[in-house]
Amino acid sequence: MCGIVGGVGKLNLREYLISGLKKLEYRGYDSAGIAYAEAGEVIVRKVAGRVVSLDAVVPNNIHPSVGIAHTRWATHGQPNSSNAHPHQSNNGLFTIVHNGVIENFRPLTHQLAVRGFHFASETDTEVIANLLERFYTRSGSVLEAIAQTCEAIEGSFACAIIFKDEPNRLYFMKKASPLLIGVCDDASLLASDPAPMVELTDRFIDLDDGDYGFLEVGKVQIFRNGRRIKPRFVARNVDLYKSDLGEYPHYMLKEIEEIPSVIKRLCENYFDEDHFLFNESMLECLRKAKQIHFLACGTSYYASKIGAKYLRPLGKDVLVSIASEWAYDPYDITEEPVFVLLSQSGETADLIRCQKIINDRGGISIAVTNTKGSTIERKATYSCLLYAGLEVAVASTKSYLAQVCFLLMLTGALRGDMMVMADIDRLCESLKDIIARKEEIHSLARHAHKVTDAFFVGRGLDYLASMEGALKLKEVAYVHAESYPGGELKHGPIALITQGTLVVGFVSDPEVASSIRNNFEELSSRGARMVVLSTASLQMPGDSFVTKDVKPYLASSALVMVSQYFAYYMALEKGLPIDKPRNLAKSVTVE
Ligand code: AGP
Repeated sequence: MCGIVGGVGKLNLREYLISGLKKLEYRGYDSAGIAYAEAGEVIVRKVAGRVVSLDAVVPNNIHPSVGIAHTRWATHGQPNSSNAHPHQSNNGLFTIVHNGVIENFRPLTHQLAVRGFHFASETDTEVIANLLERFYTRSGSVLEAIAQTCEAIEGSFACAIIFKDEPNRLYFMKKASPLLIGVCDDASLLASDPAPMVELTDRFIDLDDGDYGFLEVGKVQIFRNGRRIKPRFVARNVDLYKSDLGEYPHYMLKEIEEIPSVIKRLCENYFDEDHFLFNESMLECLRKAKQIHFLACGTSYYASKIGAKYLRPLGKDVLVSIASEWAYDPYDITEEPVFVLLSQSGETADLIRCQKIINDRGGISIAVTNTKGSTIERKATYSCLLYAGLEVAVASTKSYLAQVCFLLMLTGALRGDMMVMADIDRLCESLKDIIARKEEIHSLARHAHKVTDAFFVGRGLDYLASMEGALKLKEVAYVHAESYPGGELKHGPIALITQGTLVVGFVSDPEVASSIRNNFEELSSRGARMVVLSTASLQMPGDSFVTKDVKPYLASSALVMVSQYFAYYMALEKGLPIDKPRNLAKSVTVE
């Protein structure tokens, strides 16, 4: 994973690099580092932990000509300062930051060690710096050294490189990890995503795999396969990358409360008074498809499960697979499914691997992402955006609801059913009511925050929605939470219920309400402490939180919002780092 940022030119580089890293911390926050050229020297500072600690050790009065910075999610080596980036080649000529994984770093390290190179870290990155040195020593050309290094290394990389003898130039190379250039009048920038650059420019250049080159003020040179190529400028709606906390204490809370406006924006983008605005040829493709196959991870996988429920009644065979599993066992029942790739970030490595398999087979894919210009968005046959705005908290909240509503609208478009729009409106009313009553959920969490285990149970859509509730509790509140279909409990898991075990029950589906209530009884009589989330028409005395009625097929999504708040407040009561939970990163760019 990791985030990188770099710049050359006349700007406050310190401010740009440090604030840029803060915006990229969602990509990892195990360690942070910076390197910059000043007065003929390249100075490196790095720390274990967050960017805020780096900020404290970088002098304020620096005036570098070029700089690079990195925030790390550790893959190879512990999250300490010696493994933190930037890394330098043995002779100090090359200083680099890297996002990605070098799969053949062990044999390459060995080959370099035999030639006398030494290594100060356990990372797979140092080998890149030393290969650059070795190839440069032979050819005397930095560009040639970069081209040869790209050839020699296997895996994924986005690198920003300072060459000590050229302090007014910033080199880069990219394969399979995201990297984007931003151009201003008096500076040239690069970063893993547009967020660090959007305050300075709206002129971006997307890089493709295999691209390398350099930036100077007013100059961008990109090479592919040894030949110079013309930069391809792309427009970006910079507002989608801006997000500040405002009055909120945490992004997770802010993003939960943005959900009604996110859904409204989504509707405006895909519906215009009396007709849907989806790409017609994409709809035709879906209409013709015998099979639709969702691929996704984490929250996006759970949203796909709901989408599959919506689409199946259209007579489609709809499969949902976890991307990291399908990537290594890419089965299909029919020969020509239409693949739907759901991803908030559009950069999830497991999904990119699936996409490559689909593209190599000549298959059709529809990317549904929240990130314009992301790899998955760019490489799909059709792409649709969620317009949810930047999601900063590691735990996905607004994206989930946007994904579910998107898939419902898509189903409505395929069915020619505009009533779904009115149903979504009612859902938004219910969500606003939940926001207004969030303190009730806070109080539930306050009473439950000492638990270490929890079960989430439901049936049908409620079960699928409760999976997302359990994931939220795991990732932000560090509670071991498992979701089970109500009917499955007696087949084993009920053995784990003892006095006081927390069970969060979802009841919004009238078809299965009485059977899930029976399951709750069975759990209560064995000592479970029930927190039941229900809807007005299905409520029973003693329920913990009751939402307004909406169409049953959307009601479980309202319960997901309740469980998002529940997880948030549990984490708050426990004093946990809500927006950046341990061991996680927002964008999972390694397999
Ligand atoms: C969500 O809360 C998680 N942090 C995680 O499961 C996430 O949904 C998953 O990594 C998929 O990410 P994507 O939607 O960006 O592909």
